[in-house]
Amino acid sequence: MNFQIIGTGSSHPACSKTNDDLAKLVETSDEWITTRTGIKSRYVSTGETLTDLACEAAEHALENAATAAQELDLIICATIRGDYFTPSLACIVQQKIGASCPAFDINAACPGFIYALDVAAGYFARKTVKKVLIVAAEMMTKMVDWNDRSTCVLFGDGAGATVLAEGDSLLSIKLTAQGGTDLLNIPNVNGNSPFCDCPKNDPYLFMNGPEVYKFAVAAMERDVKEVVEMAGLTLEDISYVLPHQANLRIIDTGRKKLKIPKEKVLVNIEQHGNISSACIPTLLDELNRKSFFKRGDILALCAFGGGLTTGACILKW
Ligand code: ACO
Repeated sequence: MNFQIIGTGSSHPACSKTNDDLAKLVETSDEWITTRTGIKSRYVSTGETLTDLACEAAEHALENAATAAQELDLIICATIRGDYFTPSLACIVQQKIGASCPAFDINAACPGFIYALDVAAGYFARKTVKKVLIVAAEMMTKMVDWNDRSTCVLFGDGAGATVLAEGDSLLSIKLTAQGGTDLLNIPNVNGNSPFCDCPKNDPYLFMNGPEVYKFAVAAMERDVKEVVEMAGLTLEDISYVLPHQANLRIIDTGRKKLKIPKEKVLVNIEQHGNISSACIPTLLDELNRKSFFKRGDILALCAFGGGLTTGACILKW
């Protein structure tokens, strides 16, 4: 016994910025961003808080699941950084949507949603929950340096949510971590302790793009193969792959290595850019609302990101 997804939701800020808009801020072009990443535009907060996005996604998911907030037994938020260090984003969402269950955040960067599914699966296995809300929400535009063209063009803001109920949808799941700060990090701000001689730092995202690129392609191929095998399936059994939306070239290269036809690999990177942990649940919601998936479809989810972490799983829709 684990879970099934009974509702999905998502939310993004009202303002979308195109590559041409960004070319007015940093030395870049629509041509460079499109050919290197597949991104054409991304949603950016002009005042919406992460809490606003997370709550809207949560409410959409609850409505889609025909579930009242009071029915929830657990709320898990995946986020790199909430609006507050404490309370957690999950606690704030719990209060705003009118739930009364335990709530906590997990930080596993881009695979955060898949990490949260694994945590939720444990609760379902122990039979201590019947309904769980997962919200993955990120405000990446507040963490990138808007003077750094190599990173600011890649990211966007948004939130994706799912409501889980008892079921047998999760066929396999795999998480990894290869800890280190050298390839990707977002430093915390140093405080103002009069006793610490800490240097003043810039709390912006640093990424060694080419190295993370290689890691990501290898992870996608390795993890999808492994979760397919763990589920007792073959790659041909996959109906659709929902990969982390970091870069269309990573997705395409990984897909070719797995020999999966293009039409089976789902993307929305063109309009959203990389919204870290919110990528996969947002994609899931956009397609679910179009009734894209059929009952029994086999979905492979895979993601990679800061940590470095990876997560992949097979879900039966
Ligand atoms: N516009 C124009 N030129 C640019 C830009 C830009 N926005 N950004 C970089 N360049 C230049 C560089 O300065 C460099 O110029 P040079 O050759 O004169 O030195 C050139 O373009 C090539 O730069 P690279 O970094 O080698 O470009 P690359 O083809 O690797 O693409 C990218 C960069 C898109 C970042 C790619 O490496 C990538 O997608 N990496 C993986 C990112 C990822 O998956 N992240 C996931 C985790 S995110 C998270 O966890 C929060």
